[in-house]
Amino acid sequence: MLTALSELKQRKQHGPPLAVLTAYDYPTARLLDEAGVDLLLVGDSLGMVVLGLPDTTGVTMADMLHHTRAVARAKTRALVIGDLPYHAYDTPEEAVKNARLLMEAGAHAVKLEGGVSMLPQVRAILAAGIPFVGHIGMLPQSVVEEGGYKKKGRTEEGARLLMEDARALDEAGACAIVLESMMPEVAAAITRAVTACTIGIGAGKETDGQVLVTPDLLGSFPWFRPPFAKARADVAGETLRAVREYVADCRSSTMPEK
Ligand code: KIV
Repeated sequence: MLTALSELKQRKQHGPPLAVLTAYDYPTARLLDEAGVDLLLVGDSLGMVVLGLPDTTGVTMADMLHHTRAVARAKTRALVIGDLPYHAYDTPEEAVKNARLLMEAGAHAVKLEGGVSMLPQVRAILAAGIPFVGHIGMLPQSVVEEGGYKKKGRTEEGARLLMEDARALDEAGACAIVLESMMPEVAAAITRAVTACTIGIGAGKETDGQVLVTPDLLGSFPWFRPPFAKARADVAGETLRAVREYVADCRSSTMPEK
């Protein structure tokens, strides 16, 4: 298990690959930690899988702080990454102010979406002494501007731009970079080219680790699951079974502890 961000370089060189999952609350953080997850991401996917929003663009700093504090209260061995939500890093000053708030809420590092275009923000965060995780490829916060979720790196030019983003974040000092929904060969080439650990999601197997949105893994958000995410449990089904049983008991005289 990873116990300090400084161990990431060693993990990239010698393995084993990183197991990363999202967490938004105290009990889930404790369970994921007990199961051996290396990094817990308080992702702004919170907006969809917890808050019922249509995408991540409605998530606020107040939401992220609330849930980062809940995860931090679990005092996990796994390190916590806090996501900067949409419009929380429009300028380098805002990026640093909000990154500091996430750190005060209990994060060990912060993440934001974007590569070369976000370099001033990334440099400002790192200059403030805050560990930073990058995120490139398909960027959920750009879903409205881009008109949907589209796999990246399909063209030579697209692949070149992704490599440029990855190298820029790496040279700036990112300790890890999330590679989301991109062609596997592009993710593999980036993984070989950078010193930061790459953490893939829908980006093939040749990365330094994998991340999933935990409700996708657990089958607890049955209304949507991306095609690359394999559910390894059916929490939604088990919840329906248990609650239906309880409802039936309440309505009959067989309830054991009324
Ligand atoms: O918000 C999130 O959960 C994420 C992952 C999809 C990487 O950024």
